[in-house]
Amino acid sequence: MATLQDLTKHNQTALADMLTMMSEDEKNQLAQDLDNLDLEEIEALYHDVYVNRHVEAPAGELTDVAVEVKAAMAKERLTELAQLGQTAIKEGRFAALLMAGGQGTRLAHPGPKGTFSFDDVSLFELQARQLLKIAAECNTAIPWYIMTSDINHDETIAFFKEHQFFNYPEKDITFFKQPNIVALSPAGQLLLNPKGQLLTAPNGNGGIYEALAATGLYQAMKKRGVEFIYLNNIDNVLVKVLDPVFCGLAVESGADVTTKTIRPLNGESVGRVIMVDDKKQVMEYTELPEGLENQFNNGNIGIHIFRRDFLEEASTQGLPYHLAIKNLEQLDEDFAVEKKETLKFEKFYFDIFRYAETFKTLQVDRESEFSPLKNKEGKDSITTARQSLIDNHII
Ligand code: UD1
Repeated sequence: MATLQDLTKHNQTALADMLTMMSEDEKNQLAQDLDNLDLEEIEALYHDVYVNRHVEAPAGELTDVAVEVKAAMAKERLTELAQLGQTAIKEGRFAALLMAGGQGTRLAHPGPKGTFSFDDVSLFELQARQLLKIAAECNTAIPWYIMTSDINHDETIAFFKEHQFFNYPEKDITFFKQPNIVALSPAGQLLLNPKGQLLTAPNGNGGIYEALAATGLYQAMKKRGVEFIYLNNIDNVLVKVLDPVFCGLAVESGADVTTKTIRPLNGESVGRVIMVDDKKQVMEYTELPEGLENQFNNGNIGIHIFRRDFLEEASTQGLPYHLAIKNLEQLDEDFAVEKKETLKFEKFYFDIFRYAETFKTLQVDRESEFSPLKNKEGKDSITTARQSLIDNHII
């Protein structure tokens, strides 16, 4: 695709100027990186996502999503759902899918977020323990797919190895990497990373679907008989991985997308799960239009069950990019390393909901199901997460 000569034609003057100071080897490397790029597409992305950025409510009628409230369910119903879920797990119809490709900038923990530990128990281990327990109870093998990214793949695998995969059968764990996309300066210029290569970054957790497709994992799941994919984040220390009640609800409803929510607090940094006409969607907290911050009663906690056949088909459709501004290390025009405000382009996994036809939503209690580790201090921090683990007798 693009060549070194195309840079000036597409207004990439910063990189074109730097070329004059680059060695042949460096130029060859850059030429290789550019070969995978469509500069026109990148210009269009820059304009769409940054220059012409406007945050507005989705078009359509916005209403609260219909929910079943777990706390209001009769004991018999809970038992029935749990049995339904357990049976399906036993039959090998569920896979667990973990998104762990993020950078965890706000936590400032050196290394992948999943390696953060409370009293020697890492976030990865907290999830592995639950899967091990369910696999033993159901006397079955549960495939566990873990998405990493370029920035943490090797370290993640090294950590699992160092901990003997937390006794989880290695054959049932599959790591796969999400794609990267170029990052740009606020002026729309391509940049070089400290190694002198084109600066790229993970393309947001919505990259998960193209990654699953590209690595043949939908097919692998199908071959194993997997019908439902249970997706969750790495940082909710109270996440119930393969919660049988929630699994039962997905099996019972057969919905394309089944989602857990909590009631959001005033101005809380969680996406709002809403209906836009007849489609479930998430309005991300970073993009909540003014006036709608406290309008809706369901917050996204990043726990969803998808029908595999729905995801596989929807993965062929594109998802939009959103803007994230982060301080990233890069080379300045004199080839010195500096950290600068940079435009990152991120897909959000929940944008795939728009392709679904059927939805189910379970509202759960925050106290027992949601305590995310996002920050070093204050809200959603090491202190609050530890307290939740203690309150729920997990550590
Ligand atoms: C996310 C949700 C938000 C929700 C909140 C609950 C998105 C876009 N937003 O927000 O609606 O209310 O969690 O805690 O998901 N990740 C990747 N690759 C990436 C970026 C992120 O795998 O490129 C993973 C992270 O490792 C994490 C998850 O996605 O497991 C969520 O990412 P994070 O950056 O923590 O999202 P939040 O802004 O907290």
